[in-house]
Amino acid sequence: MKIVSVVGARPNFVKIAPLLAEMRKHPDLSSCLVNTGQHYDANMADQFFQELQIPRPDVSLEVGSGSHAYQTAEVMRRLEPILERVRPDAVVVVGDVNSTLAAALTAVKLGIRVAHVEAGLRSFDRSMPEELNRLLTDAISDYLFLTEEGARQNLLREGIAEDKIFFVGNVMIDSLEGHRSLWERSRILTQFGLPSGAYGVVTLHRPSNVDDPSALGSLLGALSEVARQLPVVFPCHPRTRTRIAQLNGSLSGLELRGDRADTTGLHCVDPLGYLDFMALVASARIVFTDSGGLQEETAVLGVPCLTLRDNTERPVTVTHGTNRVVGTSPARIVQEAMRVLHTPAPASSRPPLWDGNASVRIVAILRDRLLRRPRTHDTPRATAPAVPLTPTTNAFNDWPSSARHHQDLTGDSERSHT
Ligand code: UD1
Repeated sequence: MKIVSVVGARPNFVKIAPLLAEMRKHPDLSSCLVNTGQHYDANMADQFFQELQIPRPDVSLEVGSGSHAYQTAEVMRRLEPILERVRPDAVVVVGDVNSTLAAALTAVKLGIRVAHVEAGLRSFDRSMPEELNRLLTDAISDYLFLTEEGARQNLLREGIAEDKIFFVGNVMIDSLEGHRSLWERSRILTQFGLPSGAYGVVTLHRPSNVDDPSALGSLLGALSEVARQLPVVFPCHPRTRTRIAQLNGSLSGLELRGDRADTTGLHCVDPLGYLDFMALVASARIVFTDSGGLQEETAVLGVPCLTLRDNTERPVTVTHGTNRVVGTSPARIVQEAMRVLHTPAPASSRPPLWDGNASVRIVAILRDRLLRRPRTHDTPRATAPAVPLTPTTNAFNDWPSSARHHQDLTGDSERSHT
């Protein structure tokens, strides 16, 4: 049984790590990892591969940044010859980034079954690129793995057959628990000079929050206000850092710095690796975010989280966790933050099946379904012979590196992007 897993952006790396580790336990399963290269900076990608012990990708597509159409199209164009050559039994995609949709669409058009991990989440806000990616990926997937039971209704409403849907838990939490002993040893609090349990953490990168200077300015104003009460550390996504720099330092009280955050104030630091970031979040008094993953991680860590958006596609983090969706009005953010800071941290209960074993369930279901149901299709357009895969992981490890793979596999130097 051959499975190709496709990743591209930072949250994908966190989700795929436990799945690949679980796949490695099954000798009847040959696993191939494709990295689209949507995220490419060392601290957005490489560090995550190292810390999460993700095997070196078998194929790197090196798509990089660009418009949504560019990213989606380039992933499809570069992935298609790989899938034609490998002809896997299934392609696994995770999350909701452009690489997720592009890979799913490429596979399904080749008649290859698609497994979508983290299916069924809906913000009901189609101005979010991730919502479109989620809707479209789910519509064409064969196996839909849910993190929360409520997502089932979203899928059934959209006409997805019940027998494609599996509630399995959350692979993001598999990573959190699987690496707990490592991130608990992080020295990041000492490095930043932060008192455990007495600082805040911010992440912001949604286009709606950071691309409009006035929206970004008012969020930073609110966070600076909170930062009068306690230090607030802001590991800055590259998109956000660029936008802040474009504000021309017009914000008082905002400090852009590399590695220390030792006094009260709002401190932008470079993006952190997975282990340091988890350690930072786990000991925080409060978290402000527009990220999906962080809503989930704080829910399990019992850290109060204010989501700076008007909606969440992850309602279980509100009903079972510590999340509160507070919108983007500066006055409301400050008011909610003060409420959190002046009341004891709320009790949270772990959402159902967020127990660190989602990957075990997913791989068991995939093995059962794929072994039970032989392929009803073969890839009619595949002209090249299938690459022989040994029944172990990383069957492509002998291949030369990254973009050259692409050239070799397609046999078409026009398509090479070296
Ligand atoms: C993407 C995902 C988003 C996810 C986020 C996690 C989509 C539509 N969005 O958003 O769902 O939550 O990743 O971070 O897929 N950049 C760098 N270095 C990098 C990566 C990006 O400098 O390694 C800069 C580039 O200028 C790029 C910009 O960040 O244009 C945005 O990157 P992109 O991957 O397009 O979207 P994200 O905002 O990261």
